[in-house]
Amino acid sequence: MDDNDAKAEIKRLTDKLNECNVRYFGSEGSLLSDYEYDCLLDELVKLEEKYPQYKLDNSPTEVLGDINIKGFNKITHKIPMLSLKKTYSFDDLNTFLNNVEKNNDNITYVCELKLDGISIDANYIDGTLKTISTRGDGNQGDDITTNKIYIKNLPLHIDCKSKNIHLRGEVIMKFEDFNNANKSIKDKNTRELLSNPRNTVSGTLKTLKKKDSDERSLTVFFYNIICEDNQYTDIKTQVDVLNTLDRFNAPICKLFKYCKTRNDIFSYINYYEKEKDNLDFPIDGIVIKINELEYSNKLGNTSKNPRGAIAFKYKPNATPSKLINVEFNVGRTGIITPVANFEPINLNGTIVRRATLHNENEINRLGLREGDTVLVKKSGEIIPKIIGIDITKRNIDNKKIEFIKECQFCKSTIIKKNDLYYCPNKECKGRIIESITHFVSKKALDIKSIGRKVINFLVDIKLLNNITDIYKLKYRDLVRLPRFNVLSAQKTIEEINNSKKQPFYKLIYGLGIEGVGEVVAKNISETFKNIENLKNCKIENLVEIPLVGQEVAKNITEYFQNEGNIKLIDDLKIFGLNMNTENDKAKIFLT
Ligand code: IVH
Repeated sequence: MDDNDAKAEIKRLTDKLNECNVRYFGSEGSLLSDYEYDCLLDELVKLEEKYPQYKLDNSPTEVLGDINIKGFNKITHKIPMLSLKKTYSFDDLNTFLNNVEKNNDNITYVCELKLDGISIDANYIDGTLKTISTRGDGNQGDDITTNKIYIKNLPLHIDCKSKNIHLRGEVIMKFEDFNNANKSIKDKNTRELLSNPRNTVSGTLKTLKKKDSDERSLTVFFYNIICEDNQYTDIKTQVDVLNTLDRFNAPICKLFKYCKTRNDIFSYINYYEKEKDNLDFPIDGIVIKINELEYSNKLGNTSKNPRGAIAFKYKPNATPSKLINVEFNVGRTGIITPVANFEPINLNGTIVRRATLHNENEINRLGLREGDTVLVKKSGEIIPKIIGIDITKRNIDNKKIEFIKECQFCKSTIIKKNDLYYCPNKECKGRIIESITHFVSKKALDIKSIGRKVINFLVDIKLLNNITDIYKLKYRDLVRLPRFNVLSAQKTIEEINNSKKQPFYKLIYGLGIEGVGEVVAKNISETFKNIENLKNCKIENLVEIPLVGQEVAKNITEYFQNEGNIKLIDDLKIFGLNMNTENDKAKIFLT
């Protein structure tokens, strides 16, 4: 990523996350899942660390917690309401545990469920509830006391001796209450259905108008005590905190566990990963807290998080997205591959918009319909896969996706061979676009300025009809085109010229012979050394090469027996492309 890309990416992430924050903490419902949000935020933190000069004043990495909603009075938190450091990995968790145990081997822990709701501070004066407030920016939140009526188990009085005490906890919505609320909305047909429990809690607590009140039944569980008059100096541990809350008759989630060892912690995490769907309220992870308060207080806080606790969050099983359409791409060899385009989602930190559907069987297996909510997962880390459909969101009237009968580019009738569909037309525009895209890709000749969109455009205006045409492009032609300016035209020509000096194996890879990946291309170039030897290659020599089997060997010999391919190679030679490993040794090739 160069400087300009980093700057643009920081701006894009900042805007996106800020937009999500407004929606997440307002009543509209979030645009991204928690996991997607966290991944984007992580990406932004990393970029801001590397390029601090581009960090924006309104960066969401500087904002703690939720935003304040206009229209509420503000309440200042004498002790800030921080948030927890989050992780999705056991490695990070181990690092956290190693750090906290560095100077103390007598630590024990408490694992609690990470309740998926909205945190509040409830202030009791002489045991009577006076105010409830949201976290806000951590220092100042909204006074949402009027909305206490929605929290059905919120005690108006607690049995405690302190004159001024704050209980902190999470307001959640039990699944049963959520379903009842939606049932009631359906019956009355008053508004759109609620999207999920968490957003409903947020929307309900942050509403200024009293509406739908009968349908909103929320629950609070407390997990922290802040005593302004130091009445509870005998509370020494997090277990004491929870027991004291219980004695106050303040609701707590009793599913916490006192943990002496790492194994205790890991088995609690693993247990609830499986069990979480059987709970009657939503959780999104586990909070691991140092039990001994003196020690966790001594560790203190970073600007946003306490050092003595961490949230281990569960990855979603699959991320939902809305199917936009299915396009039927024609590959270099004519194979038709259906590709699903869906609304962008973040999977493990990368933005994903497309997933291959492989073949007709896959479309039938999923029973895909237009507008379906698809569930997307990273398979084998790289290629995203649609693992299923959220049937509850399906509109049964929507049209079924059918495999095409003719090529969308050249209208040739599709043929079927061994369960695969092909466009038989060698001059098909789709095939041309794919072979050029492959030829210029990073692993091949690496001509960055000519991306897929530019190729589509240049093929459309007939400036590119085959791979050789890349080397016929002139600055004066490009600079006049709508997609180019002086700089980009210059850069494109420069990159095209540089591509001529790429190592030989990159050219072999770029030819796009079926089964010849980057490693095989390297092995071939080392064996045959130059294009003349390779043109005359025999199957028996090829199969001697590591990773080349009969099938690939046959593809290679057939490739070099094809007249069109020989002409392509001869033309590329005339344009000066490197076709000899001898030249690879020049310094310029050391990549
Ligand atoms: S302890 C420093 N315990 O998760 C904040 N938080 O960022 C200490 N949450 O803001 C919070 N369940 O809204 C704690 N058992 C639990 C929790 C919990 C949910 C929320 C809370 C907090 C956020 C983490």
